Parts: sequence; structure tokens; C-alpha cells
Amino acid sequence: MTDGAERDYFTDRSVLLDPYDYFEEVRVRGPMVELTDRDMLFVTGFDECVEVLLNNADFSSSIAAPGPAAPLPFEVDSDDISAKVAAHAESIRTQDLMVDYDGEAHAAARSLLNPLLVPSRLKANEAFMQTFADEMVREMVGKGTCEILGEVATPYVTLVIADLLGVPDEDRQQFRDVIDAGPPPGNMDAPQETLQSSALAFMVGYFARYLAERRANPQGDVMTDLALAKFPDGSTPDIIEPAKAAMFLFAAGQDTSAKLLGNSMRFLAENPELQDQLRADRSLIPAFIEEMLRLEGSTKMTARLAVRKTKIGDRDVPAGKRVFVGLAAANRDPRRWDNPAEFRLNRPKIKEHLAFGRGAHTCAGSPLARVEVRVLLDRFFEHTANIAISEEHHGPPGARRLDYEASYIVRGLERLHVKLTPR
Ligand code: HEM
Repeated sequence: MTDGAERDYFTDRSVLLDPYDYFEEVRVRGPMVELTDRDMLFVTGFDECVEVLLNNADFSSSIAAPGPAAPLPFEVDSDDISAKVAAHAESIRTQDLMVDYDGEAHAAARSLLNPLLVPSRLKANEAFMQTFADEMVREMVGKGTCEILGEVATPYVTLVIADLLGVPDEDRQQFRDVIDAGPPPGNMDAPQETLQSSALAFMVGYFARYLAERRANPQGDVMTDLALAKFPDGSTPDIIEPAKAAMFLFAAGQDTSAKLLGNSMRFLAENPELQDQLRADRSLIPAFIEEMLRLEGSTKMTARLAVRKTKIGDRDVPAGKRVFVGLAAANRDPRRWDNPAEFRLNRPKIKEHLAFGRGAHTCAGSPLARVEVRVLLDRFFEHTANIAISEEHHGPPGARRLDYEASYIVRGLERLHVKLTPR
């Protein structure tokens, strides 16, 4: 047994600071490791993670958000628990999120997002990002310093999703306030039912009212499209369904995008030569983002539950086994990536990384997340000659003090203070 297996991923603060070190300690025991204390299979291998994510017949997503450490509300007493999982789905999922749905219910819920993610809508949303990001970055560069997560990334991603959904200007501040009060998904300190749930409940209520108005009086806006969207079988969903879909965009796309921005800014601030290279040639930004997603993506893991006796590769997996799908570990699997801990622009087939998952639940917001980060970085390069970490707040190079969110899902800094030198 290694140190890695003796530390607990879900509670040990040293793992939060450096999950990659922990993943390597587990990986030396193989791409799939049984964590007996937790009764879970911990998967760090790239091929093995992909296999699990693509196998929706044998693996349920019901524990994706609650995580693989959450207890099951029934005894596992056979080689096929699919009926039991379906019957207890609501109590297994701690909240009603599409990422935890399976099969047809999942496909139906996801289809409601279609009107939002059409190219014309994303294009209009990008125009909003350009204007908003430019104003915000100019203001920060004018001040000479800023805290990236709280002052830039979080308000930016909140308002981008609000714009995508067509939330009126006068209501946007209310969204910022509610979201600011909640912890990120997978929080290890606050029970999930607390702040995060009340923020989500507020949003479902808000959207349900708003969508009902649009259903009664269509107005040719994006909310009307969402309100009138039908399920794939042609039936009309209860108004709560598009409301939950709208809410879930904030739940899924808020901290993930904000933290990717934070992780990217830290990396750039620590690597001034790379910064200069991207500043001089902005067409390299998308390649930079993909490598950041691989190396320091903001979602460390997801989870699946084996609903029947199955296999991953040659390994037998019993029904009821909870599987830790180590997305960030797979993204550094040396069998898949050459020198995985090294940053390289333009790695071959980089887009195969698992930062956005794979298969039926692949991140629905990945096109948006990529554009969000590209636009903001582009504005920072436009208006700065240099971005540096504030030593006053985080200490000197080699002895940085950086705090990471206490979340088993999200990888990201709590705060990042930077100094901005104008161009
Ligand atoms: C860098 C930013 C992001 C990362 C790293 C990320 C990552 C992920 C991952 C790994 C999943 C799959 C979870 C699973 O298979 O269990 C997922 C699902 C999802 N993401 Fe993202 N995400 C990001 C941004 C966004 C944004 C901006 C949105 C929307 C505005 C969004 C919306 C969704 C939705 C709706 C799902 C659920 C899809 C489903 O269950 O079918 N994400 N995301």
C-alpha cells in the first residue's frame, strides 16, 4: 500500500492542494485500484475512464454529482440492481440535476437545452462576452491589480450564462448575489443541502415563473424558445423541466468556467515567456486552452455506479460498485500522453482529453466554456504588457501560498491576486 492509498481523497487537505501527486501515488498500483475503506474502484487510466463513460448500459450516472463516497439507500443483493437504482433514483441523487439522470429521462432533459446552444445564439452570446470582458479588463488594468476569481471570473461567467438565457438586465444583479453566496459543487465542508441548494432552488423558481409567462405570451426571445421546446417524442414538458435545465446551466457552468479561468491565469502569470508568445500570436490561445484543460482542467472527477455485474477491460466489476472516474488523472495518464506533467502547446489529438467528460453526458457547455476563456484571455493580452502574481498576497516564486477550493469535484483557486502592467 502506498501513501496515496492511505490518504483519503475526500477529506485530506494535502490532496486538495495537489491532487496530481495523489493520483500518481494511486496510479503506481495500476489504472484501476480498489479503495477498500471507501468500497470504491478508483480509475486513473485514460482508456479505462473512457470505457466507463461510454458504457451507459452497465453504469448509471445517478452518483455523478453526489459522488462515489455517497452511501446507497438499499442493500446490493444481486448481480443486477438496475431496477433498484431506477426505483431509488431520487434518493440516490441528492439534487435534481440532469447530470445524474440516466437513459431516456436524461436524453429528454438534455434536449431542452438545444435552443440555447445553436450557433446563432452562441454567436450573439460571444458578442456580449467581447463587450463585457473588454470593459471589465480595462477597468482592472486601470487599477493595476485585481483578484481574478472574485472580481473578474465569477461575475463574467455568471453574466455570460444570464445573457445566454436572456435574463433581463434588471434581474442580473440578483443572480450574482445568489451565486456568490453558494459554494462550488462537491463542497467538502458545507452539506450539499445548504447554500448551494438554496441558490439552485431560487433559480428554478425564478425561471419557472419567467418561462410560464413566455409560454402564455410568446415574445420571440430565447426564453420563449426554451419555454416552447418539446421533448424528442413531441410531448410538451411541464414548465418545471425547462426551468431546471436553465438552472442547471448555472450549476454546471459557473464554477467550472470561473476556475478554469483562474487556473489559466495562474499558469500564464507564472510563465511570462508563454504569456508573451500568446500576446504576440493570439491564434495560439485555443491550443493553450486545450492544454490547460488537460493539465489543470477544473473538473477533477465524476462518478458512475455499476448497475449490473460488468467489466472494465479484463477486470470484473460487481453490481453496486461505485466508480471514481478520475478525469484529471486520465488527462495525465503516461500511457496516453507523452510526458504528461509537462505543458506543451499543440499536442497531437489534444482534444481527446477528458476535461469535459465523454459519451452521453459530455459537457453540453463546452463550446461556450472555450469561447468564454478565449475571449477573456484575448482581452487581457490586448490591454496588458505583463500579468504577474501578487507576491504581497501569494508569496515569492517557489514559496507561493495558494488556496484551492475544498471540493472533490472542482479543481480551482479560491483567490488569485495579480499585478497588471498596462500595454
Ligand atoms: C471549463 C469549464 C467546464 C468544465 C471543465 C466542464 C466539465 C463538465 C464535465 C466533466 C461534465 C460531464 C459530467 C459527467 O459525465 O458526469 C459536464 C457536464 C455538463 N456541463 Fe460542463 N463543464 C464546463 C463548463 C460548462 C458550461 C459553461 C456549461 C453551460 C453553460 C456547462 C454545462 C454542462 C451541462 C448541461 C452538463 C451535463 C450534461 C449531461 O448530463 O448530459 N458546462 N461538464
